[in-house]
Amino acid sequence: MQLLDDPIFHRKELTEYYLEYLKSPESSSGVFLAAPRRTGKTTFIKEDLVPRIRLEGATVIYADLWEDRSINPSIVIINAIRESILACDGAVLKAAKSAGLSRFKLAGFEMDLAKIGSKEGESISTTLQRLSAATQKPIIMVIDEAQHAQTTEEGRQTLFALKAARDALRGAGPGFRLIATGSNSDRLAVLVSAKDQAFFMAPMEELDQLGDDYLQWLLDNSQKAAKPSLAALKRVFEMCSRRPEPLKKVMRDLYKKGGMDVAELDARLELLMIDALQGLRNNFIQGLHGLEPLDAAVMRRMAQTGKAFTPFDTKALEHYKRLLQDYGPAEQPAPSQSAVQAALERLRKDGLVWNAGRGLWFIEDTQHVAWIQSAMAEEDALRQAAAGGNASQ
Ligand SMILES: Nc1ncnc2c1ncn2[C@@H]1O[C@H](COP(=O)(O)OP(=O)(O)O)[C@@H](O)[C@H]1O
Ligand SMILES: [Mg+2]
Repeated sequence: MQLLDDPIFHRKELTEYYLEYLKSPESSSGVFLAAPRRTGKTTFIKEDLVPRIRLEGATVIYADLWEDRSINPSIVIINAIRESILACDGAVLKAAKSAGLSRFKLAGFEMDLAKIGSKEGESISTTLQRLSAATQKPIIMVIDEAQHAQTTEEGRQTLFALKAARDALRGAGPGFRLIATGSNSDRLAVLVSAKDQAFFMAPMEELDQLGDDYLQWLLDNSQKAAKPSLAALKRVFEMCSRRPEPLKKVMRDLYKKGGMDVAELDARLELLMIDALQGLRNNFIQGLHGLEPLDAAVMRRMAQTGKAFTPFDTKALEHYKRLLQDYGPAEQPAPSQSAVQAALERLRKDGLVWNAGRGLWFIEDTQHVAWIQSAMAEEDALRQAAAGGNASQ
């Protein structure tokens, strides 16, 4: 039996575009790329961009802050730096590695790998400067889902340490570039738009999402005799916000029953996508109804107010009270600030919301925001209809 890996659609033009951009002076303060969750950022970075940059002879340090969220983001970043040092092929480094030493010489300086970034060890900036001097290659640091660095104090400090490295290596030696990605432009924007943030004023842009060329590639790679049309694929891909996973699932389900007439495939594909999305939405809304009433009220306020969300002021507490009343069984008093704090903590632990520091909170998944908003509109309409019905009796 042969087990095949999921094939990757390579985005050559986009790769070359970013390679050129990285080489240009415009990217010297950092490259911040935003695109929604599960739309292909990590795949593009790991499968296309990083290998291409390595071909150019640069050292790439890649840290994904999303992969294991139980590890402090600062540790994830320091581990990635450490690994890239261990991957160096300097003769000194080789000798040090084979002896199993954590202390060794890099660019003429003795350093302790185990202590990088700690109080007793070398700073991240110094370490990267030594790495640059030892390899004489540009360093490209990639922080995937960079907004997660803000969830811990150490993570925030690490971003400032990277900024110090960027400034120290700017114009000196082979150079340094930082690429940061984020799943939501609002969250990533926090890193570049606030004066007290490490990468204030760095340019941010949306990473192009997968397009028609990806869909055509999927069709070309399908071994089935009968295939849906590109137009139908485009429609369903739009429906699932251009996320490959739901698309792949409905493409598989399309052939479950067998004996499908070619003419029926397009209509069936759309029905399957509607079902799949409805199922996901229903599960989520059911989950929302199953939360503690205050937790659900906090989520609803967050969905309604978006970027303007404030958790604890009088207006917020009154808003929760109204929401608790509208969606709960009986009239409730306005909650206390500490009750709201506890609700936010529970939601954060469950991965439903995240804390961007400085009192900023966001719903983790933008899809959830849209679902809560539409469910609230439906529930409001039902309530109004019921109130209208009562009034006319
Ligand atoms: N270029 C691509 N070719 C094939 N599949 C892809 C591609 N990009 C994304 N995918 C699929 O979409 C899923 C989500 O992509 P990922 O890169 O993890 O998204 P993100 O990092 O934006 O959350 C992956 O598991 C992969 O199966
Ligand atoms: Mg990712």
